[in-house]
Formats: sequence, structure tokens, C-alpha cells
Amino acid sequence: MSAAYAGYQAPAVTVSSSLPKRAGAAVLIVPVVSSGDDGAEQATAKVLAGPSLPAEAVGQIESALQALGAKGGAEQVTRVVVPALPVASVLAVGLGKPRDEYPADLVRRAAGAAARALNGTEKVLTTLSELDVSAAVEGLILGSYRFTAFRSDKTAPKDSGLREIVALSTDAKSAKQAAQRAADIGAAVATARDLVNTPPSHLFPAEFASRAKALGEAVGLTVEILDEKALEKGGYGGIIGVGKGSSRPPRLVRLTHKGAKRKGKRVALVGKGITFDTGGISIKPAANMHHMTSDMGGAAAVIATVVLAAKQKLPIDVIATVPMAENMPSSTAQRPGDVLTQYGGITVEVLNTDAEGRLILADAIVRAGEDDPDYLIETSTLTGAQTVALGARTPGVMGSDEFRDRVADLSQAVGENAWAMPLPEELKDDLKSTVADLANVSGSRFAGMLVAGTYLREFVPEGVQWAHIDIAGPAYNTSGPWGYTGKGGTGVPTRTMFAVLEDIAANG
Ligand code: BES
Ligand code: MN
Ligand code: ZN
Repeated sequence: MSAAYAGYQAPAVTVSSSLPKRAGAAVLIVPVVSSGDDGAEQATAKVLAGPSLPAEAVGQIESALQALGAKGGAEQVTRVVVPALPVASVLAVGLGKPRDEYPADLVRRAAGAAARALNGTEKVLTTLSELDVSAAVEGLILGSYRFTAFRSDKTAPKDSGLREIVALSTDAKSAKQAAQRAADIGAAVATARDLVNTPPSHLFPAEFASRAKALGEAVGLTVEILDEKALEKGGYGGIIGVGKGSSRPPRLVRLTHKGAKRKGKRVALVGKGITFDTGGISIKPAANMHHMTSDMGGAAAVIATVVLAAKQKLPIDVIATVPMAENMPSSTAQRPGDVLTQYGGITVEVLNTDAEGRLILADAIVRAGEDDPDYLIETSTLTGAQTVALGARTPGVMGSDEFRDRVADLSQAVGENAWAMPLPEELKDDLKSTVADLANVSGSRFAGMLVAGTYLREFVPEGVQWAHIDIAGPAYNTSGPWGYTGKGGTGVPTRTMFAVLEDIAANG
């Protein structure tokens, strides 16, 4: 299975400037707004009619929506039958109140909500693309995402069934490019979701590494895998220390995209790949421990991003360094109080084996620094404190002031909504150890997200602009579906990191 592992197979996307004469069983997804300023009671759904919808069809859609009491609220979906159109049915999706401009993420979420409401439809057409092609296509792909690898014939749904998306746009030429880019982005995010959703029984470090290799080689990346012997020999004390409690040994995967022309920039990506986090000897409580299947969400997003960078032929170098380990308690596990030597020589007293992410990441950051990058982006499901501070949907970004803010701004622009957080100098004192250079946890309960960022900062080489994105909550949706995000792996922050890479490629 892993040798041929090809990632998520997204529906095919095409662009058309007009509705076809006949579209059989296809469904047409149409945006509507909530019109009438007399409050929600009086509001009626009005079609945001693009050039491809005949007036007769608009009238039929609106009267059907009125009869059903649909108001066009954001993400509200209503299915209607429209005799004037060549499709089986129309799925109207709300964008809320009318505006001059519709923000990309509003369109993306509406597309996602519409896609989630489909039930076995193989082909959709949409006029959401007349508002924003990229957002419409990304939203449809991500909203229709299902993880079905472990469903037998007994349970449904096996698959959303969506195979084909036709994005309507009068400017078919530029729309075609945007649609293809969006389809690639959607497939990358979905691949990251697949990796997160694959259970820890089936995704352990060696398997994760071989999937990363298959994905990377398929797009021409150079892939290097260090196994446990190479890690031991190379002095990767953090990865070895965390991985040694498991019968399934750790790995370090390196994926290189060489796209830079003369003077092109080089970006290092690092992602936390704990395939399961029990906490180790500092074991976690049983309640919700199964969520720790998501503890490789940073690694999944980093792998998806470097593969996407190669696919999109970005004219920069991107080198992903991905440490992978399983954090287990056993007679071979590291103990609280053990001292290990991180790659590069800094010694660490492991006061809590559940603060394992920073141990594998520190090794990886030092290794990534040896490639002399201009920028370094690291992402990880690092601290429960991230969720306490920012909630389940808002990643925290720390790092060099300017680059941190740039990453947060771009994350806001793509709808992943990361927020800049500080690394106050005084927190470093909390990581003092009585026996080693550093302790891996602070003695205080406060600012856990920032303390973890402070730990990582010790390993970033001087002069490298860096950002750490804590996605403990945002990587994995444990509540209900919303917008284009279903339950389980979300693929965050793949789109943020790709936006940063595109921005660096364009502006340095
Ligand atoms: N993987 C966890 C962080 C996490 C918590 C991710 C909840 C997703 C949801 C991480 O390895 C961890 O256990 N962190 C500890 C750090 C503490 C021991 C300083 C935490 O947050 O409790
Ligand atoms: Mn942990
Ligand atoms: Zn962890």
C-alpha cells in the first residue's frame, strides 16, 4: 500500500463559461444572500445571479426558496428543483447579508457547507466561482472530503462520491489557472487530513516515512530517511530519547525541492511527527487520549506543503525536515529526570516525558539550520495551552517579530486565522535546569504555549527569520463539522505555509 501511496485523489475540476444544454444528474450550487433589512424574520433569499443563470431560472429558484422559508443565512443550504435548468436539482447556499465584496473565506465556507450537504452526487456545477474561483473550488474539494480507508461494506458513507466539479466563469482563461491551483491546494490539504486521520495502528514512524517518500518522489523531490541507527550515530538525542519507549523506532525524513534561480530564497519547514502521544512515562489521562492520533498534524502539513511547492514549481528552495516518533511508556522508555543531548550539543533534563514534541523538534530545527535557510517555519500540535489561550480554531504564531506577523497576516488571508503571540524574555528563566543546559518544561502553570516557543527559540540559528505555529487545537476538529471542515484532521496549516512560500517566491 505505502509504495504506491499517492495521496488524496481530488475530484476533477474544469471551467466553463456557460451552462451546458444537458447536465443529467448533476447538481448546480448557487450562492444566495439574505435580502431585506427588516431583520431575519422578513428576509428572503435572493440569488446572487451571475451571467450564466437565465432570469427565468433565477425567478424559479427564488420562489422555491421563499416557499420553503429559506433566508440565505451564511452556510444555510436548501435543495430545490428548477424546471428551467438542465440539472437534477439546485443547491442554494447562503452567504448572509448582501455586500459589495464577498470575502474569500465566506465563499470557501459556503462552498464547503454545500459540498457537505451532497449525498452521492458525482458531478456538481457551481456559480460560486463567479464570486471567487479559488475559494469555490477549495471549499468544494475540502467540504466533500471523507476519510473512508477503514470503512468496510457494512457502514456508509464510503465516499462523498464527488468526481467532477465544473466552475462557471465568463473569464474562463484566468479562471482555469486559478481552478487548477485551487485543486492542487485542495488535494494537498486533503492529503494532510488523510495522514492525520490514519490511525496510529497503521501510521507509525517507518510507515509515515515511507508514505512521505512516495509522495515526495512522485513530484520529483529528493528524499532522505534517517532510521534509528543513523539517528543514534548522528547524535539526534531528542528523537532517540522520545522514540525509545516504542517497539516502532523513530525516523527523520528530509524532502528537498530545488526551485530557486540565482538569488532565490531558501525556506526550511519543520513539522512535529509524533504518530501517537501517550505522554510516555508521564502518561496522559485516558479521557480523549485517542485524539493524540493527531500529534503528527504538523508533519502532515509540512509534507503536504513541500509536495505542493514542487507541484506548483515555486521558484524557491524548500527543504522539509520531519522528525517522526511514537511516544510510549515501557521499560525502554526515557524517564522523568533523564538527561539527553539534543542534536548540536545542548543538554536537556527531561522533567516531563509528555513535553516530547519540543525534544524531537529541537533536533530537527538544528538540522534544518545546517542548510542555511533564509526562513524557517516550524509547526506542531505542541501544547494544550494553545487551546486554552486561543481556542480550537486559532493557531498561535511565535518567532521573529516581522516574519511572525507576516505569517499571521497571510494565515488570516487564507482563512486559517493564525494569531501572533509574543515570546517574553523572562520566560527563559523558567527553563533552567539544576543539572543540564535546559529543562524541557517550566515549573510554572502559566503561558505554556509561549514557554514551548521559548524552548524552540534556543535552537534556531542566529540570523534566520523563523516562525513557530502551534496547532494543537486547529489540526484536529473534535466538535461538529463547519464550513469546509469536517470532523477529524483539518490539514491546518498547509494553506498558511503555502501562502507564505508563494509570498516569499514573489517578494523575497
Ligand atoms: N501533543 C501534546 C499537546 C496537545 C494537547 C495537542 C492537546 C493536541 C491537543 C503535547 O505533546 C503535550 O503533551 N504537551 C503538554 C506539555 C506540558 C507537559 C508542558 C501539555 O500541553 O500538557
Ligand atoms: Mn505530549
Ligand atoms: Zn505531543
